[in-house]
Amino acid sequence: DLSTCLKGKKALVTAGGTQEPIDPVRYLGNRSSGRMGYAVAQALQEAGAETILVSAPTDLPVPQGVTRVSVQTALQMRDEVLARFTDVDIIVKAAAVADYRPAVQAEQKIKKDGSGRTLELVPNPDILAELGQKKTAQVLIGFAAETENLLANAQGKMQRKNVDLLVANDVTKEGAGFGSPTNIVSFLFPDGRKIDFPQMSKLEVARHLVKEIVNLLGMNVKE
Ligand code: PMT
Repeated sequence: DLSTCLKGKKALVTAGGTQEPIDPVRYLGNRSSGRMGYAVAQALQEAGAETILVSAPTDLPVPQGVTRVSVQTALQMRDEVLARFTDVDIIVKAAAVADYRPAVQAEQKIKKDGSGRTLELVPNPDILAELGQKKTAQVLIGFAAETENLLANAQGKMQRKNVDLLVANDVTKEGAGFGSPTNIVSFLFPDGRKIDFPQMSKLEVARHLVKEIVNLLGMNVKE
């Protein structure tokens, strides 16, 4: 029974794609709809965990019983996650965080003048890597969105970011990744274990993830 197995646990999930302002009307963004992260928050809440969703902009409804904290940029997401990090048992980083942001945000709408333009970008902090360094007893789960060399890239991310489980998705596959209601994922573990899943709804992926989280917390799921 998955409905009470995370009772007493606190979870934090990030979802959606951050938006990095260029000027008051434009931003740099990505194709994340938030669906994957919202499904994870729903599944954790249904398993009994007190769940907070730190969400980049999306139109999705908040899953019942989940508390949403809305953010726009990677820096805001970092602040909200770090403020809660020591207080939670489970962290799932499904958000697509912009690796770069514009070096300056223009105060007024940028006017066109007929010539070309260059946008200067500066790197954003890697929130997941920071959590990986700070973590103590928390179960830390990352995602990897890849368009090539899925396994090699995902394994590299798992080691660099010190996560307990990495959910890898090849976002070029039909029915997987950004926007789609379904996903095709592999779970990778630091000990080299790997579980490949067929295409399924993002909520089903999330429920498989909850089972692994329960195992990682050292609790038993009674089926
Ligand atoms: O939202 P959907 O439309 O449902 O799409 C789901 C998804 C494709 C966004 C999701 O399944 C997914 O793969 N999320 C991670 C997207 C991503 O940015 O992956 P990445 O490989 O660039 O980053 C790896 C990990 O580091 C992620 O957990 C990410 O949250 C984290 N990260 C990345 C950059 C950064 N500056 N800070 C981070 O914390």
